[in-house]
Amino acid sequence: MNENTYTFDLLTLFPALFDGLRSESLLGKALQSGALDLQTHNWRQWTTDRHNTVDDLPFGGGPGMVLKPDPIVACLRELRPQRDPRTPVVLLSPAGRLFRQDLAEQWAQGPGLILLCGRYEGFDARVEQHVDQVVSIGDYVLNGGEVAAMAIIEAVARLLPGVIGNSASLTEESHSSGLLEHPHYTRPREFEGAAVPEVLLSGNHAEIDRWRRRQSLLRTKLRRPELLQGLTIDKKDRAWLDAEWAQLQTAAAGQGGDRD
Ligand code: ADE
Repeated sequence: MNENTYTFDLLTLFPALFDGLRSESLLGKALQSGALDLQTHNWRQWTTDRHNTVDDLPFGGGPGMVLKPDPIVACLRELRPQRDPRTPVVLLSPAGRLFRQDLAEQWAQGPGLILLCGRYEGFDARVEQHVDQVVSIGDYVLNGGEVAAMAIIEAVARLLPGVIGNSASLTEESHSSGLLEHPHYTRPREFEGAAVPEVLLSGNHAEIDRWRRRQSLLRTKLRRPELLQGLTIDKKDRAWLDAEWAQLQTAAAGQGGDRD
């Protein structure tokens, strides 16, 4: 640990779930080098009753259990003064704002992140007064916030200096430009009858760049069309995309099925 160490604090009832992450290659190395620190805090230790109760029945009735506010807030109160006051406190919940690459980039600026992992029906709503943001990793419900926290840790950690070797691969990947990344190919040149696109073998880097940019656009239009909303697209690329799209539609109509 040093003054540049990026610290992830995980408030969780299941700290052992993070053991695998610690030993995983890139993160494991970053932990060893001191670029990263990952600390788990089991807030069951902040319960004060003799059964160490962390949950209770929901007021108003209904299924499941709700996480009590007192132990998690007590844990947070002890932790926060030990961290840089700019460290965001984030509660993980399917009822949160969607986690996206721009948030990962913002959080990677540092100094660290405090992540609250819920379970069961989630936390008592009053816990939200003690956090900066409520964040979801997608429109599906997990059994708890731990897997969501791991996704966030990976997305943020790989943007930190000293965690991933090749910074070019960071700027060229999906979402960093607002588009999905272009397809990649490696050897063999032909695999089960499918050949690598000729342009990639041409050595013409301007042509290759153009092909990749256009494939990115096409892939995005096919799989995530909403990402193209509000994006300025070069006129020639737009014309190519429209023509390609029309061709695909005709081919799909002929086959009577979806492409992709
Ligand atoms: N906890 C349960 N489901 C979740 C989700 N989709 N995102 C974040 N935290 C969660």
